[in-house]
Amino acid sequence: MSVLIAPSILSADFGNLERDIGLVDAAGADWIHVDVMDGHFVPNITLGPAITAAARRATERPLDVHLMIENPDRYVADFAAAGAQVITVHQEACPHLHRTVQAIKESDVMAGVALNPATPVETLTDILPELDLVLVMTVNPGFGGQRFISASLDKARRMRDLLDRADSKALLEVDGGVGASNAALLQEAGVDVLVAGSSVFGHPGGAGEGVRALRAALLGGGAGT
Ligand code: DX5
Ligand code: ZN
Repeated sequence: MSVLIAPSILSADFGNLERDIGLVDAAGADWIHVDVMDGHFVPNITLGPAITAAARRATERPLDVHLMIENPDRYVADFAAAGAQVITVHQEACPHLHRTVQAIKESDVMAGVALNPATPVETLTDILPELDLVLVMTVNPGFGGQRFISASLDKARRMRDLLDRADSKALLEVDGGVGASNAALLQEAGVDVLVAGSSVFGHPGGAGEGVRALRAALLGGGAGT
């Protein structure tokens, strides 16, 4: 299948959010990635349902909401109402992960679970049949613009293998330090969705050029094998 590109608006200009989303939309971005941070699960505080709803008005592309928050169950309905198509929670933040995933699915939203760099892929084995997406973090969550953790390339391969062995249709997403230099390697590892913030919105030629550069770096233009 083709590789989806999901620019993270964490690196957009919040004063010109509609314009920046328009640029990546017009350049062919597949999803818009929305990074929600609470200052507890991760050290940073970012945005919530109101900005997600504003993003919803700016594009028809699916909104891929990444909740880096404690107790995400409290907010699933709010983000679904704000227009999320995908809601991803962190395994590390959910002691009752199965219940949380059910709550997401009951909101008619695709359910994803993210793993921090130190969390083994096998921790998802028992929840895999319930998932629409797994997110392998390739940096420690909290900030844009960090360096890709090189060991996470092999981790993505191992997650691909786990998904295939379980005959899972869940999409494999990676997030953090992704750009034109590692996009093809991640594609070869079996990744389906590339999240990219600073490499897109920080591209010297503008955000549209950032999307095109990422697409051009993919083998077969992202058409997959
Ligand atoms: C990190 C966020 C990422 C971040 C990616 O905690 O989940 O989505 O915005 O930014 P870059 O692509 O700059 O690493
Ligand atoms: Zn993210």
